[in-house]
Amino acid sequence: MASLQGKVAIITGASRGIGAASARALAKEGAHVVLVDILDCHETASLIESTQANVRGDVMSVCIDIQDRGVIQQLMKDVYSRFGSIDIVVNNAGTCSRLDLEDITEEMWARDINTNLRGTFFMTKEAIYPYMKDQGSGKIINVSSISGIMGGPLSFHDGKKSARSGPAYAASKGGVIALTKWVAKEVGALGITCNSIAPGPIKTEITKDLDYPLSNQVINRMGDPEDIAGAVVYFASSYSDYVTGEVLKVCGGSAIG
Ligand SMILES: NC(=O)c1ccc[n+]([C@@H]2O[C@H](COP(=O)([O-])OP(=O)(O)OC[C@H]3O[C@@H](n4cnc5c(N)ncnc54)[C@H](O)[C@@H]3O)[C@@H](O)[C@H]2O)c1
Repeated sequence: MASLQGKVAIITGASRGIGAASARALAKEGAHVVLVDILDCHETASLIESTQANVRGDVMSVCIDIQDRGVIQQLMKDVYSRFGSIDIVVNNAGTCSRLDLEDITEEMWARDINTNLRGTFFMTKEAIYPYMKDQGSGKIINVSSISGIMGGPLSFHDGKKSARSGPAYAASKGGVIALTKWVAKEVGALGITCNSIAPGPIKTEITKDLDYPLSNQVINRMGDPEDIAGAVVYFASSYSDYVTGEVLKVCGGSAIG
């Protein structure tokens, strides 16, 4: 197992879905977990505390909007003063507008860019400077999407377009990948790695009731949040100490190439 005993991990979007599964997986490896979401994280926290009788780390929940830089700065201060380090940041919180180019509104564009890209940017910057830099170590893990690689995969069902993420989402997730590589090059010498995970279709609220043409997919099923949590644990652990600036597609083979 990838022991994360005593490590301090901040996970955004931890109220449900991929973020909740990632928080559970990190806690299972012994990490202290800081659950961050605009929604209440009570359910995730109770699940960690009740099902992991051997849980060795603490659980802290923080209800904030990661579009606000000021609250991110305060979050880092609070986490550092409680735990004395910030070792792992999982930038997972995200929103996904699905209207196409003709119909997407300025508000939808702003929400996806500000949450997915700007939120990831400030979480990363405020965790590294000064905390991870002063420690000489840290793991930044950015949850992107295959949309950020492929420009929003086209999917058709019964001849109709279905389930395609919108232009703001694809642009924000492509931006997250470029940001990951930029940051990796900047902070490698400080002992910090920065990697990205690009999920394919995963069963969560974002994909609820959408119709994916899974017959074209190599692994013929939707992914579970736990499929992504496994990759998060890998990037959080010492097994990935020599890996940085990478984008790991976890997509059932839907975006090979
Ligand atoms: N489910 C998929 O198929 C899929 C595919 C590729 C990428 N992703 C990415 O995975 C990540 C997790 O998504 P999910 O599928 O678990 O969906 P989800 O909607 O269940 O989870 C997203 C979480 O982010 C939180 N959030 C949204 N805006 C926020 C904000 N401004 N501040 C704080 N928290 C905020 C939400 O409250 C929610 O708990 C997202 O970045 C998403 O883009 C998901």
